Amino acid sequence: MPAEKRTLLVTSALPYANGSIHLGHLVEYIQTDIWVRFQKSRGHDCVYVCADDAHGTPIMLRARQEGITPEELIARVAVEHQADFADFLIGFDNYHSTHSPENRELAELIYTRNRDAGHIETRTISQLYDPEKDMFLPDRFIRGTCPRCGAPDQYGDACERCGATYAPTELKNPVSVLSGATPVEKESLHYFFKLSDFEPMLREWTRAGHLQEEVVNKLNEWFEQGLREWDISRDAPYFGFEIPDAPGKYFYVWLDAPIGYIASFKNYCARTGTDFERYWKPDSDTELYHFIGKDIVYFHALFWPAMLEGAGFRTPTAVWAHGFLTVDGHKMSKSRGTFINARTYLEHLDPEYLRYYFAAKLGSGVDDIDLNLDDFIQRVNSDLVGKVVNIASRCAGFIHKKFGGRLAAACAEPALYDEFVAAGERIAELYEAREFGRAIRDIMALADRANQYIDEKKPWVLVKEAGREPEVQDVCSVGLNLFRVLMTYLAPVLPALADKTCDFLNLGALHWDERGTPLTDHHIDRFKPLMTRVEREAVDAVLEASKEDLEKAQPVAPAGPLAEEPVAETIGFEDFAKIDLRVARIVEAEAVPGADKLLRLTLDLGGETRNVFAGIKSAYRPEDLKGRLTVMVANLAPRKMRFGVSEGMVLAAGPGGKDLFILEPDQGAQPGMRVK
Ligand code: MSP
Ligand code: ZN
Repeated sequence: MPAEKRTLLVTSALPYANGSIHLGHLVEYIQTDIWVRFQKSRGHDCVYVCADDAHGTPIMLRARQEGITPEELIARVAVEHQADFADFLIGFDNYHSTHSPENRELAELIYTRNRDAGHIETRTISQLYDPEKDMFLPDRFIRGTCPRCGAPDQYGDACERCGATYAPTELKNPVSVLSGATPVEKESLHYFFKLSDFEPMLREWTRAGHLQEEVVNKLNEWFEQGLREWDISRDAPYFGFEIPDAPGKYFYVWLDAPIGYIASFKNYCARTGTDFERYWKPDSDTELYHFIGKDIVYFHALFWPAMLEGAGFRTPTAVWAHGFLTVDGHKMSKSRGTFINARTYLEHLDPEYLRYYFAAKLGSGVDDIDLNLDDFIQRVNSDLVGKVVNIASRCAGFIHKKFGGRLAAACAEPALYDEFVAAGERIAELYEAREFGRAIRDIMALADRANQYIDEKKPWVLVKEAGREPEVQDVCSVGLNLFRVLMTYLAPVLPALADKTCDFLNLGALHWDERGTPLTDHHIDRFKPLMTRVEREAVDAVLEASKEDLEKAQPVAPAGPLAEEPVAETIGFEDFAKIDLRVARIVEAEAVPGADKLLRLTLDLGGETRNVFAGIKSAYRPEDLKGRLTVMVANLAPRKMRFGVSEGMVLAAGPGGKDLFILEPDQGAQPGMRVK
């Protein structure tokens, strides 16, 4: 039983507002949610807040690409994210946005306090600039040849082939991903946060038990390399907050993102009348926990406590990092269909399967966790359906049929019941320490014990023997009481099953400290199936749908009917003349493994051959295309697709499906001939 009531504020990292929630993200939100539900079940005062991370260049560009404002984009994504979280039973007490008045005010406050304390300095730096788009280019928006190994088409900060890291200005033949233009170097004044001012404080803080051991080791490496100042400004155009007294300069998204934790909490306080100051003053008696992925440790274990300290706010009680999700032993992959969006999963499977599986695999460390799909099916079916729910379904029928839904007047196995209650102390310690996998192992051992008890007593045999009816009621009542204790332990992981259990057992809630007394002479409701088995077909359907999601997103050459797709903006003759249309001979055509719609074509342009992916598989068999002539856009910039590089585009027209026609020139045309 908790000695004293604690007051906790808990956060998960704020998901970016330019993408959908996927199963990788859910490792974190499920982990945090379990921990929070556990704290609440123990009677503590625990508030869980989160928000969308709505600022930055990718969000600005994504909105532009969709032809909407960033505000419209983030409003739409906010609705999607919150629906996904709600359906995965993530019980946020508040969900907000970093693009909010609270966050603007707090970001300005934290910045100006740090500035006035001398922790900000300015300096002119030189960066790559896109002269066509009139903007500075983040590293990821520049591609070019690796200065070390010569690999073409590498990102501005690192080479995927040789692993080198470099400054974008070192790239050979750099190109802006946005416009295709060659970037130029341009100077601009930037604002820096002097992280090294906080070195003594951080050295002490990072070793004072606020972090996991593996993280501390990583930080020691960073300390050895020296703490570098942090560039916190970005030039317009940028979607974010303008820096006070610095027109045209914006806070870098990572400056105001963690402040979003405070902003969301402030919004919660306004809504609920909670005392904001109590939580954030330096000597606060409340606890503050951040759950994050291992990729964002630098921001949370160095910049964040330093910014808070510099602004006179309290620092976190702990920052806890988790590892990354792999599926069947591999990084989530779009071609395998294992890059699974939350919504795709929900269309086919129960969210509690995944909550249970993640819980069973999660520990307190930063190891990656693997979703092995065979193991997932097997484990959910054997543990939840085969063991836990089975206890209730074996006992409830007799209580109804024979005893009018009433449990026995006394617990017939007090020693066994007490064993279950006592095991809760250790299980609570494991939950507290985020050792969910070990907690689940203990709980399943208890479930085995309960099933073993019922097996030994055999109520289905007793019920047929004259005069032994009272024993049947005793055994089944014990079984249901053990089930109730088990469900109390599983409730943080399986809140919906816990709710159904409450309905069925006719209870208000399953609080941790109410488990000590068994239910006696208590009326229960009729048993309804609490959970069904995971079907292999449903898992396969998720994988299949995840592949489709991807292909839908892939541009296919032919446009749809006019009614659905209005004619695009008018272009001048000069624009048209830029398109170099050529006759090409299809020398090879083959299906692309893993792609439902694509064919890989090898095109002869009269001496030169090109590799092109065309979305025409629904209309043509590869063997029918070989040798035929077609028309292609010959000067389209090569595009990297997940199957390889596509070096042009074949023209096609038609409503789609089987009726999709590649444009064929007259007989007598020659490969390479220009089409006018
Ligand atoms: N916006 C930042 C966080 C700002 S917090 C002040 C961000 N967003 S994110 O959408 O990329 O990730 C949100 C969280 O999900 C991060 O903690 C990240 O580590 C986690 N994960 C994203 N992909 C993941 C996996 N594949 N596996 C496990 N966790 C993953 O980072
Ligand atoms: Zn390289």
